[in-house]
Amino acid sequence: MDNFEYRNNQLFCEDVALADVAKEFGTPVYVYSRDAIERAFLGYSQALEGHDALVCFAVKANSNLAVLNVLARLGAGFDIVSLGELERVLKAGGKPEKIVFSGVGKQAHEIERALKVGIHCFNIESEAELDRVNDVAGQCGINAAISFRVNPDVDAGTHPYISTGLKDNKFGIAIDEAERIYAKAAAMQHVDIVGMDCHIGSQLTEIAPFMDAMDRLLVLVDKLAASGIVIKHLDMGGGLGVCYTDEVPPSPQDYISAVLKKLEGRDLGLIFEPGRSIVANAGVMLTQVEFLKCNESKNFAIVDAAMNDLIRPALYSAYQEIIPVSVREEGKPVTYDLVGPICETGDFIGKDRALTIEAGDLLAVCSAGAYGFVMSSNYNSRGRAAEVMVDDNNVYEVRARETLHDIMRGEQTLPAGN
Ligand code: LLP
Repeated sequence: MDNFEYRNNQLFCEDVALADVAKEFGTPVYVYSRDAIERAFLGYSQALEGHDALVCFAVKANSNLAVLNVLARLGAGFDIVSLGELERVLKAGGKPEKIVFSGVGKQAHEIERALKVGIHCFNIESEAELDRVNDVAGQCGINAAISFRVNPDVDAGTHPYISTGLKDNKFGIAIDEAERIYAKAAAMQHVDIVGMDCHIGSQLTEIAPFMDAMDRLLVLVDKLAASGIVIKHLDMGGGLGVCYTDEVPPSPQDYISAVLKKLEGRDLGLIFEPGRSIVANAGVMLTQVEFLKCNESKNFAIVDAAMNDLIRPALYSAYQEIIPVSVREEGKPVTYDLVGPICETGDFIGKDRALTIEAGDLLAVCSAGAYGFVMSSNYNSRGRAAEVMVDDNNVYEVRARETLHDIMRGEQTLPAGN
């Protein structure tokens, strides 16, 4: 975790005691460190200084407007996958010409809006989508800059749900088909080929799969060049892992220097789409212990956060560290499953965790800045958590906790008597 540390047994984010945050904003609450986000982004952008490159934060990892704005102020680009993400980026001050639009199912109205605001590039994932982008661009009278997401068929060695570069998943076009589809695009009137992209998976802890993917894409870039199709940029997607427990992923600097080395002597721009590695360790989720419940075989700590607030443990069996906000010096640690109030056995935040806790204690679920709040829901009619951002010794509420009114907004009963 970056910028989260104990001072006198009290967990701090930058210069703010997290116990004070919980007192002011309640729990569960997501807390982000501005400085941690900025430093993670600069890790990429500084390693790329002097190169024709764009670092496009993957908005899906954390789409809070304050997070996007902090990044936009540093000159970040953005990788979006929906109209909603596009509008968020624009509202947060992101520059349209630094936006790449990914995703397998772009709709005509989304394409139209993206064309009209002038995004950098569409990352196209199928032939049918190429036809659609060409049609919409024709109707708008604005040519679309395009890249194809090529599926290099490499095994990223990560969880099957977040591995995306293998043949048998829904993403991208098969590498064997790529030449034909690029040639088709080159003959179309309303698209301009500018790039080639890939995204082989998430939470990668080795450089090798990225290098494998790159080797395959560069062969394709050369083949296309031989037939007169010039690729101006290579977009390596996101995917760099972070430390949740004891993983030792490569740093962005090491990863980027390996990429740059492979590109030596080529006139090829670069795009990266990091999500997790920018925000995961810049955030925690605070939760309070409601009850301790012990039966013959298990000890449970029932906390006020649930799978609707943070679904990664339930969905991927993901491990996130859970630590006390105030360390108890007295008492022996007991092993607990930390579970939420939702009526599902799968509703857990952590299993078999040794903790010295009592009811009423506050806990911090670590590495929660990526794929945390954004994947939350209203299951069991629970309002979504508040989000706050810490900046030195200041705390800003960047999303208010959802109220019951928010949850029921837009719903109606049938007219009386019907
Ligand atoms: N670009 C594309 C096209 C993507 O599909 C993704 C993530 C990224 C960039 C950002 O990847 P990152 O740098 O964050 O690894 N919900 C899962 C992760 C799903 C990732 C989906 N795509 C989780 O909580 O682990």
